[in-house]
Order: sequence, then C-alpha cells, then structure tokens
Amino acid sequence: MESLCIAVPREKAEKVRQEMMEKKLLRTDLKIRHDGQYVYIPVVDGADIKDAALKKMDFEEVKKEKNFRELIEPNLPGGVKISSFDVIGDIAIVRLPEELIEHKGKIGNAILSAHKSIKVVCMDNGVVDDYRVRDVKVIAGEERTETLHKEHGVKIKVDIAKVYYSPRLATERYRIARYVKEGDVVIDMFAGVAPFSLIIAKLSRPSRVYAIDINPVAVKYASLNVKENKFGNIIEVIEGDARDVVPSLGKADHIIMNLPHSSHEFFSLAARHGKIIHYYEIIEKNRIEERFKWLRKEASNQGKKMDVMHWRIVGSYSPSKVKIGADLLIH
Ligand SMILES: C[S@@+](CC[C@H](N)C(=O)[O-])C[C@H]1O[C@@H](n2cnc3c(N)ncnc32)[C@H](O)[C@@H]1O
Repeated sequence: MESLCIAVPREKAEKVRQEMMEKKLLRTDLKIRHDGQYVYIPVVDGADIKDAALKKMDFEEVKKEKNFRELIEPNLPGGVKISSFDVIGDIAIVRLPEELIEHKGKIGNAILSAHKSIKVVCMDNGVVDDYRVRDVKVIAGEERTETLHKEHGVKIKVDIAKVYYSPRLATERYRIARYVKEGDVVIDMFAGVAPFSLIIAKLSRPSRVYAIDINPVAVKYASLNVKENKFGNIIEVIEGDARDVVPSLGKADHIIMNLPHSSHEFFSLAARHGKIIHYYEIIEKNRIEERFKWLRKEASNQGKKMDVMHWRIVGSYSPSKVKIGADLLIH
C-alpha cells in the first residue's frame, strides 16, 4: 500500500520513530522499510514534518492478529472481561480476577494461539518484597520465566520471576534519556536489570552511568545486559544498598529514583549528590502537592533549593493512587 513516509539515516531512525509515535504521526498499520543507508518511516497523510524530506513509497501492511478475547470470552462465565496483558520479550503477563483463575489454562492457550510471537503466558499475582519482584506462575506455553526484551534498540535479558522489569516505563525512559547531555554523570539508584541506564547510554552520550541495585540477581542481569549491549565503558553496575553506595560516587548531573513506594526515604541523599533528580512515587492523588512541599523542605535541610521542572502521572495504581514521575532541579 502506498503511503507518505520520511527517509532517515539508520542511526537516527529509532529516535525519529519515537518522535513520530509521540506526535501520533506514525502509521502503525504499515511495516517500516529500510535499505543499507536509510530507514523509511510511514507517516499519516497531511503530516507536516520540519526539516524532513517527505516522499511516497509502497509499504507492506501489518497483519492484524486475532484478538485473544474473541477466542476465549465466549467460553467464560457471562460478562467477565479479561484486561489487556503486558508483554516482556516472548512472555505475556496477565492479571486475572478471582473468578477467572480456574480458567487460567484456557486463557493462556487463547493468548498463545492469537499471538504467535508469545511462547509463555504467566499469571501475575502482584509485585512482592523489597526487590519489587513479581509473583508469577506459568499458565501456558514453555515452562520458563527468562526472556529477552527489546526496548529502543537495546537488548534486555530478564527473569521476570526473580527481578523487577516493567515495559510500561519505556516512554518514561526515553524521556529521561533525552534530558541527559553529552558528558553528564548519571546515578541510577535503583537500577534493576538497568533499563534506564542502558537506554541513556544508547540514546545520549553520558560520560558515566552508575547502576546500583541491592538484589544480586538484578545485578547479574544488569551486568549481562551491559556486556551484551557493549556499554561496559559507560555503565558501571554496582551491587549494594544505595544508602551505602551513593556517598562514594560524588556528584551527579542526574539521579534516577525509581523505587516508587519508598523513594522519599532516599531523597535527602539524592539531594546532596544530584543536580536533576528524576523522582518516581506511588502516591494518593490528593497528596501530590503536599509531597512536593515536603521534598522542598528536605532539600532545604541539606542547604539546597528544589524546583519542580516538570511532573506527570505515569500510571494508575489504584482508584485513589497514581504513580508520578517528577524532574526536580536541585540548586
Ligand atoms: C521498582 S524496581 C526499578 C528497577 C528499574 N529502575 C526499572 O525501571 O526497571 C526497584 C529496584 O530497586 C532495588 N532496591 C530496593 N531497595 C534498594 C536499595 N536500598 N538500594 C539499591 N537498590 C534497591 C530493587 O531490588 C529493585 O530492583
């Protein structure tokens, strides 16, 4: 099918694709094409893109897979709906309400037959313990929980039963990477398998990224991912408690704090060491302003000022709670 597209050099393609997606200009019904030099990104008719050559080309259509709900919902108790599922690599992770648990095998098999790229289906019983690991059980497909996921051109190996990883933060990681300037030093305080660190190393030009985690299994996967993506000269993975590690690292241009139930407990440490703090917290909707006030006070206890550069809701957690992301300037 013919479509309008932009031709971009290969090395810029992922960045442009993301931008097109964010601006809702990307045509997701068509497959991106490439040759040795250029990547051709199909865009919607009428797109007016500054500084880019627009041309028309033929594109293959993306085949729509059958919706797993069409396969399974007729066989379930009337009116019960299955929510959508996350995909990490070739593993689908589904949350099931109590009344559907006895149907988990059928549901898993429906997902496998509707999505050929999925090889394992896991049931998610929520995130548990200090390492923020999910309690997952394989309900269909191969009996494994390790997989290889791709995010913004980075390969991320992860065992979802042993370490935390969420594909839902991909846009957030891209956003933070764009804040980082050439030569910046970054501390990823609660790095997990190091997705923030890896995306920053891939999309920006930091001089150093320190990826800290207390979970030895997360550290094992973070180290593997750094090696696999060839960022050993940029990212240093450190096993330990951020409270003990950060003081030895000196000052950083950016500190990422993705430990959303307890980030605030580590904030004064971050305020002593960082210029811009990327702060995540799961919080009651009506307590957000109160939290910023509290953080300002904590910064002032360290002899610093804090300005909220930007904040946003990055996910909902419960009817009353949301996950927020905030970029905080410390000066
Ligand atoms: C919510 S996960 C975030 C992982 C990663 N940043 C991501 O976006 O996928 C939080 C991580 O913090 C780690 N953690 C918890 N307490 C810590 C501490 N005191 N010092 C360092 N890491 C810690 C956990 O093991 C877990 O991997």
